[in-house]
Amino acid sequence: MRVQEAISVVDLERLAKRRLPRILFECIQSGVEDESGVARNSAGFHQHQLLPRHLVDVKERDQSTTIFGRTYASPFGISPTGIAELFRRGADLMLAQAAAGANVPSIMSGSSMTAPETISKVVPNNPWYQLYAARDPSISDDFVRRARDCGFQTLVLTVDNPVFPKLERDKRNGFSVPFRLTLPIMLDALRRPGWTFEYLRNGGMPMMHTWAPYAPAGATAAEVSAFRRTQNPSVQTWRDLDRFRRLWPGNLVVKGLARPSDAVRAANAGVDGIIVSNHGGKTLDRAPATADALVGIAAAVGDKIVVMLDSGVRRGSDIVVGLCLGAKFVFVGRATLYGVAAGGMAGARRALDILREELDMTLAMIGCPNVAELGPDFLFNHQRREDNRFGGTQ
Ligand SMILES: Cc1cc2nc3c(=O)[nH]c(=O)nc-3n(C[C@H](O)[C@H](O)[C@H](O)COP(=O)(O)O)c2cc1C
Repeated sequence: MRVQEAISVVDLERLAKRRLPRILFECIQSGVEDESGVARNSAGFHQHQLLPRHLVDVKERDQSTTIFGRTYASPFGISPTGIAELFRRGADLMLAQAAAGANVPSIMSGSSMTAPETISKVVPNNPWYQLYAARDPSISDDFVRRARDCGFQTLVLTVDNPVFPKLERDKRNGFSVPFRLTLPIMLDALRRPGWTFEYLRNGGMPMMHTWAPYAPAGATAAEVSAFRRTQNPSVQTWRDLDRFRRLWPGNLVVKGLARPSDAVRAANAGVDGIIVSNHGGKTLDRAPATADALVGIAAAVGDKIVVMLDSGVRRGSDIVVGLCLGAKFVFVGRATLYGVAAGGMAGARRALDILREELDMTLAMIGCPNVAELGPDFLFNHQRREDNRFGGTQ
């Protein structure tokens, strides 16, 4: 099967699995400890059924959505995924270009290999920039300056990983950053000649250009990556958030909040948006599913700031559920990573197309011609609770 023939994100996942050495594919899949958080994220969406409204004119459907003063073609975009270049050389730019082509946002990772200066030249005006604050505040502040000078309009501060997560599957597999072609990976890679040829032809371990300016002069790719490990993860507090708010003139988004009280505090600190996220199950295994955590946050601050969601989204209907639960916008991480790993730019585009088409079909099936109309009324469980309250079916 080629990526163009994939009809679901699961198809792209299978294709990525076929192309990547097992250890790298598992690095996309892995979660922390027992990986219960990864499963809980999916279950968080699956627990909801949609209650269709019939005999509605759904000949024309509109999924365009405006946030931060900009209208996107769909209510979803691409989450930051730092080591995408290990899965496909050029992946950072491919993801950003696929998103720009589909008129949806992509968030460039603060630990991506490609420098913000390069991304902003190739895809001006589209990507958002994600910041992993460094232990040395002068480095963080310089990232903010670079993002601003490059013309990024939205800064996403990720806050859900103050320490190294316990990614047991990766540890068992011997996957480490800086990435090294260890004997098990080399044996594995022999069975994946497409990936191996591309990796070796491009000089092996890709250089983390984002971080290169802060590493000692002349540092190799592995040394730059090792330097970054001395700076990330880092503990950040509300004081740092205040500092970033002062430094950053554009939209400031905090990624990784789970508590309504934190969301209120962030809104009071002048944050413009929140991405309710648990890093796709890669930080705290006992974190609630984001579909569950979202509800309290949307109720607390949904009318003041832009509430968004990621973690576990694999279907257009997951996006619909997220919007019904109170998110204004949704992001995907692995879905587009599978696409780009499997088929480069065409694969990333295919992932976005699949999600857009599934979302469009779901809107038609539930009798909702415009995403702006989505709300709890379309959720079966919510409707059943309302029926009980009023003593009968409406
Ligand atoms: C391989 C991989 C790398 C990631 N790198 C980053 C990163 O650099 N910065 C960040 O904020 N989140 C990172 N994430 C988390 C994603 O931004 C996002 O929150 C998560 O993938 C969403 O869950 P999903 O993959 O189930 O869609 C990464 C996730 C994966 C799978």
